[in-house]
Amino acid sequence: EKGGHEYFMLKEIEEQPEALANSLRGHFSGGRVVLDEQRIADQDLRDIDKVFVIACGSAYHSGLVAKYAIEHWCRLPVEVELASEFRYRDPVLDRDTLVVAVSQSGETMDTLEAVRHAREQKARVLAVCNTNGAQIPRESDAVLYTHAGPEIGVASTKAFLAQIAANYLVGLALAQARGTKFPDEVGREFAELEAMPKAVEQALESVDQVRELGARLAESKAVLFLGRHVGYPVALEGALKLKELAYMHAEGFAAGELKHGPIALIEQDLPVVVVMPSPRGRAVLHAKLVSNISEIQARGARTVVIAEEGDETVRPFADELIEVPAVSTLLQPLVSTVPLQVLAAEIARTRGFDVDKPRNLAKSVTVE
Ligand code: BG6
Repeated sequence: EKGGHEYFMLKEIEEQPEALANSLRGHFSGGRVVLDEQRIADQDLRDIDKVFVIACGSAYHSGLVAKYAIEHWCRLPVEVELASEFRYRDPVLDRDTLVVAVSQSGETMDTLEAVRHAREQKARVLAVCNTNGAQIPRESDAVLYTHAGPEIGVASTKAFLAQIAANYLVGLALAQARGTKFPDEVGREFAELEAMPKAVEQALESVDQVRELGARLAESKAVLFLGRHVGYPVALEGALKLKELAYMHAEGFAAGELKHGPIALIEQDLPVVVVMPSPRGRAVLHAKLVSNISEIQARGARTVVIAEEGDETVRPFADELIEVPAVSTLLQPLVSTVPLQVLAAEIARTRGFDVDKPRNLAKSVTVE
């Protein structure tokens, strides 16, 4: 049942701390990150020289987030690709390629066909999946299950956050296999992940503020989303949620691209959501984004700023300031996505749409 909520999606948004905790449980043992199934020899994992993450929709965005962590931790090139594009463009794959297939349902045909193509080319395939025994994990060489629980809302929320955490575990498992991180470092990263359910709990404190904001923005023609570094895929996810649920034109941009095009779209009263990096962790990027927001505001747009609590520098430029708890840079998507989910759901609800069952969309798409 909806647990006293008007729609399942809100219940599932609030279940995110639990979804994260359940997805991390048991995956660090004896000083090592452990997957659920691993039919790849340790030596072969050590020899991996390239990673592809393939997925669709929100799962694809979880892969974009993971690229930042895996490249940083493993010193391996990571390409993130839409599953539907992957197999039709002759990707360069061999036995030293790891293909990470991310799918909540484990049944998405585009992703499954991409997995089959990768295996034909002798690549190793690791599935990140929320559904036990689904087709994608059955056809993969290694599996890491997320434990977000069943997701009723068609638009992914708790499964998405769990995918980010799981992709990070994959990155840590690779780093330990390759020796690019010492065991104590892997342990420290895992401990930071383990603190995230609590941080997401704190991020949920903004739910009422964001719902009220959503009701006010419901008449807008379009909404733009900007972010940088890991905040960029968060911006893409925020825009996707809004398209899916509220049938509104929404676009996510890398903030650095603003001056190369999107700034032409900025006009009076257009809501622009900006996902800020931490002023401590990424001071240079933070300063660049503050300058972006001031330009946007000077052109009369309505700025909605998602920023770390206590970040006073953004306040003068924020028509609406939504605070999220301070966490390390790579983990920010886990907190900054939360208000964007609530915003999309509430704009949709105010516009009179069925938040849990958006038109034309299916929870799992089993045709190509
Ligand atoms: C889409 C769903 O059709 O499939 C999205 O509407 C989802 O919410 C995407 O992210 C991928 O699904 P899955 O099950 O492969 O993660």
